[in-house]
Order: sequence, then C-alpha cells, then structure tokens
Amino acid sequence: MKAKIKYWIRDAMRPLIIRPYPNAGGMDYVDPKKKSNFVGKIVLAAALTALCILMLKQSSTFRSPSPDNLSRGNIGAVRVLETLFPQHGRLQFIYADLGDAKAVNKIFSENAFDAVIHFAAVAYVGESTLDPLKYYHNITSNTLVVLEAMAAHGVQTLIYSSTCATYGEPEKMPITEQTPQLPINPYGKAKKMSEDIILDFHKNSDMAVMILRYFNVIGSDPEGRLGEAPRPELREHGRISGACFDAARGITPGLKVRGTDYKTADGTCIRDYIDVSDLVDAHVRALEKAKPGKVGIYNVGTGKGRSVNEFVEACKKATGVEIKVDFLPRRPGDYAEVFSDPTKIRDELNWTARYTNLQESLEIAWRWQKSHRDGYGSPS
Ligand SMILES: *[C@@H]1O[C@H](CO)[C@@H](O)[C@H](O)[C@H]1NC(C)=O
Ligand SMILES: *[C@@H]1O[C@H](CO)[C@@H](O)[C@H](O)[C@H]1NC(C)=O
Ligand SMILES: *[C@@H]1O[C@H](CO)[C@@H](O)[C@H](O)[C@H]1NC(C)=O
Repeated sequence: MKAKIKYWIRDAMRPLIIRPYPNAGGMDYVDPKKKSNFVGKIVLAAALTALCILMLKQSSTFRSPSPDNLSRGNIGAVRVLETLFPQHGRLQFIYADLGDAKAVNKIFSENAFDAVIHFAAVAYVGESTLDPLKYYHNITSNTLVVLEAMAAHGVQTLIYSSTCATYGEPEKMPITEQTPQLPINPYGKAKKMSEDIILDFHKNSDMAVMILRYFNVIGSDPEGRLGEAPRPELREHGRISGACFDAARGITPGLKVRGTDYKTADGTCIRDYIDVSDLVDAHVRALEKAKPGKVGIYNVGTGKGRSVNEFVEACKKATGVEIKVDFLPRRPGDYAEVFSDPTKIRDELNWTARYTNLQESLEIAWRWQKSHRDGYGSPS
C-alpha cells in the first residue's frame, strides 16, 4: 500500500470528501497494524455517514464544507473524525456533488488518488420503489461519473459498495456469489447496473476492482465515537435497528413488524445482519488484496440468518425497554429469507465476521443513541 493516504467521502447529492493523510516527507503511519486501524476508523465513519466515496491519494487541496448540506450523511461525523486526526493535511474533507461531472473531474485533476472506495448512494428499498429515478440517477449514473473520472485520470483501484439486493429473491439459500442476480426493486437493479458497468469497463483495462455485496448492516463504533443518525424524515424508510431504537426512546409508539406469515420458522423475515465494524474490516482487506487487472466479488455477511422476531427480542434486551410491537401485513417488495454464504471472502480475503452477537451489536449502537439524542447535534 502507498504510504500516503487520503480519502474522499461524499454524499450522493451534496457530497463531501475526507482525506486522512500522513503528511509529506515519507512519514507514514509507521506500523501497518496501526495504519489499518486508522483506515478502519475512516471507513467506519464513511459507512456510518451512509453515502460516501473514499479515495486514497497523494496530494492535497482543501475546501471548507458548508455545514448541514449532506443529504444522507452527517457533517457531525466528519467533525468527530477531524478531532481524531487533527494533524494538518492528514484528513481532508472536500465538498462536491458526485452528479456534477465537472466538479468531480476537477477534484481528480487536482489530486492523485491511489484508489477510490465508492460508497456514495441512496440506499432504501422502499424509497427506491417510490422514486426510482432518484435511484438510477444517484447510484447508476453517478457511478458512471466516478468511473469516467477514474479512467480519465488513471486511477487504478476501485472498491465498490454493492448489495445483497442485487440477488433479488433467490430460490436457494445461502446466497453465494454465483447465485443469479435478479433484483426485484429499483435499488437492487440500480446497483446491479453499476456492477455491470464496472465489470464491462474492467474487461478492457487493468483496473483493480473489488465489489462488496453487503448484507444488512447494523451496529456502530464500539468506542462510541460515531453512530447512525439518519434524517428524521427518512425514519419511515429506515433500518430495523433505527426503528427499534426510536421505539425504545419513545420517539415512536412502538415497532411495526410487517409480515408474520412468511415461510420461515417463526413467520417473520430472515436476514443476515452484519456489524459495521466487520464491514469496515472487509473494506480494508479488499483494499489490501486488490490486484491490477483482477476483479473480486464478495458477499459480506455472517452466513447466519436471523428472524425479525429474534432481532426484536435482542433489541428489547439491548435497550432494556419492553418495546411495544405491532404485527402488520407484509410490506410489498420484501423477500422472506436472505442470508449469505461467506466462504469466498473467508478463503480469498481471510475475512470472517467477528461481531456476530446481535444483542451485543445493538447494545453498542444503543449506547451511542442514548447519549446522542439529537444525533450529531448534541454530542455528550
Ligand atoms: C449549504 O447550505 C447553505 C444553507 O442552506 C447554503 O447557503 C450553501 O450554499 C450550501 N453549500 C453548498 C456547498 O451547497
Ligand atoms: C438524486 O437524484 C435526484 C435526481 O433524480 C436528485 O434530484 C437528488 O438531489 C439526488 N440526491 C439525493 C440524495 O436524492
Ligand atoms: C488471517 O487473519 C487472521 C486474523 O484476522 C490472522 O491471524 C491470520 O494470520 C491471517 N491469515 C493469513 C493467511 O493472512
């Protein structure tokens, strides 16, 4: 890995860029373990801001962001990172719109990135069915902008955030990387299209490509520095852990479980919940193992399915709140059962999920939620 590392994180609509950077003069993070820790933290932050690109790069420019324009991420998370890495030039945040090809090209021409980790996207299945164009625009079309900029400026490594939603509802579980991709909602389709564009482009280049297909992400930073704080108006589309915490905090009257007549052991949907700390680690390993001219496609999951009922019980225990649960009819577009076969990523990247205790992951996330009632507005 190159000694000098910078990251670029951005938000889909109103992007941001972060670049951690061991300053010039050949200084590095010294100890590779430390470095990978550091990379991990940044990726964690990125994952938590939900919509980001990370880039490894070599030179620097700085543009100050205006606060609060991040449509899906949190400027507060960036501020936390800035306090963690106060050294001048080590962490850099650039604010720009990924849909703005001119702005993206300018950033690429002013900087020499070693790699791009492209997280930037909108990511709610429900929202994607209501506003499909937003999804094709911000996922597929914006990925094209990134690829074009990478090609134009000779950036050779891409780590792409994809999703298990690209598989749709396969007949056979667990899902391997060979499982046919037949997405059933605009979110999954937009991601699948992005993958296809990346793979077609790759055929004619010696780019190093890693595609990571995330399963259901939960948890937060075990050291309590960063947590998940989606916009209030996005709550209804949000993830089950957010819904559970909102109910535990009394923000919502209870938890709605949609669908109790699926063909599963307890009738509720089954998902594979992957802790964000493990996800971070998967990105670090993907980056380390990325090779010119090669493509690696990996499921990132635990390999273990948990039912929504199990999840709700774990959440009650983690929060200590006897959350009220309403059982409602199925939500359109939900699949009964989804879990991964994580063999390939274990064999090829030496990665396995370590945070596999649902209740523990939720306890960690709950600690942050409890101490940040207004998200990043009120750190305590
Ligand atoms: C961010 O938002 C503020 C207030 O809404 C606005 O004045 C500013 O121009 C925005 N910044 C960017 C870079 O869009
Ligand atoms: C996504 O794309 C739409 C265009 O369909 C755009 O108006 C919007 O600002 C983009 N960003 C987000 C976060 O929705
Ligand atoms: C795989 O990872 C584990 C810990 O994550 C490490 O102890 C082991 O040495 C690694 N194996 C290889 C072959 O790199």
